[in-house]
Amino acid sequence: MKTKLFLKSLLVILLIIAITPATFSQDKKLPNIVILATGGTIAGEGSSATGSSYTAGKIGIESMIDAVPNIRKLANLTGEQTVNVGSQDISVAVWITLANRINELLAKDDVDGIVITHGTDTQEETAFFLNLVVKSEKPVVLVAAMRTSTALSADGPLNLYNGVAVAASAEAHGKGVVVVINDVILSAHAVKKMLTTPVHAFMSPEHGQLGTANFGLVEFFHEPHGVHTVNSDFSMDGIKELPRVDIVYGCADMSTDLIDIMIKAGAKGIIIAGVGDGNMNKGTLEAAKRATASGIPVVRATRVPVGAVLIHGEVVDQDYGTVSSDELNPQKARILLMLALQKDKDMSREKLQELFIKY
Ligand code: SIN
Repeated sequence: MKTKLFLKSLLVILLIIAITPATFSQDKKLPNIVILATGGTIAGEGSSATGSSYTAGKIGIESMIDAVPNIRKLANLTGEQTVNVGSQDISVAVWITLANRINELLAKDDVDGIVITHGTDTQEETAFFLNLVVKSEKPVVLVAAMRTSTALSADGPLNLYNGVAVAASAEAHGKGVVVVINDVILSAHAVKKMLTTPVHAFMSPEHGQLGTANFGLVEFFHEPHGVHTVNSDFSMDGIKELPRVDIVYGCADMSTDLIDIMIKAGAKGIIIAGVGDGNMNKGTLEAAKRATASGIPVVRATRVPVGAVLIHGEVVDQDYGTVSSDELNPQKARILLMLALQKDKDMSREKLQELFIKY
């Protein structure tokens, strides 16, 4: 009888343990930070410490945290593996999963900030998307690495350490989504991957860095540009997908049928990575005019790495029904157009232009 009672009580205790969600049981004085891991070079493994060949997205989140000395002194950490892919394979579906999970976590009183580990190739896109759909002032920080976890002088561990320090800092509140890499803090609006391989690949050439993170010492100097997070017009609440928007890359003597082909394939909006100030050859401009006349928005961005596209510059937007991307590069302009079309598929050219200036 006694044994039966004991076993019954044991079962009840085990059940309670099993259904209690993972909580931050450690130091009550430290902030609680959740790390959402998505893969990338920071989780990559190479065949040699000095070789350049490697596979992204091999290491799990727990091993990544364990590889960073003293990181648990900065915050109480829990890790979740969202996906484990090279960031070339990050999709709209992953963005939506991340946005929903982040909003769910940040709504909790016992979550103080989020760190997302990510590949560098599309990191600025994920940062910009989240900047427009996360509904919280709490810090959301993307970190990455240019060298794999097995490389000589791997940069991932220090970037993760600094990323957690930023997410744990009071100063990061209200700054929108930021990227922390190579000791600098960059806003989601302004961050660009400017170089293919060195550790200082990320810059904000138009606006400069928001601040620095140096072995966990966090300093902010500037406010981010553009509307973001709690003040954004966009939300992913209940949304499962975004309209297709394609990018046409401009060059001398470019094929003039690309816009028509993309629309035929299902594009609901077009971004031009134009030459110079968002320009295109005559045939492509005529195709853009046809597209906008039929209700498909066309946004002029530029293939030039730095600088804004002037509204009514060499191309008079009103004549073609087009919109300038202002400061957004083609890949970020695509995200804003997808979100805008999701909200209102018949948005006027004027309203769309306002959004590109605002965000
Ligand atoms: C990737 O973007 O996943 C690969 C490149 C990198 O993380 O640096």
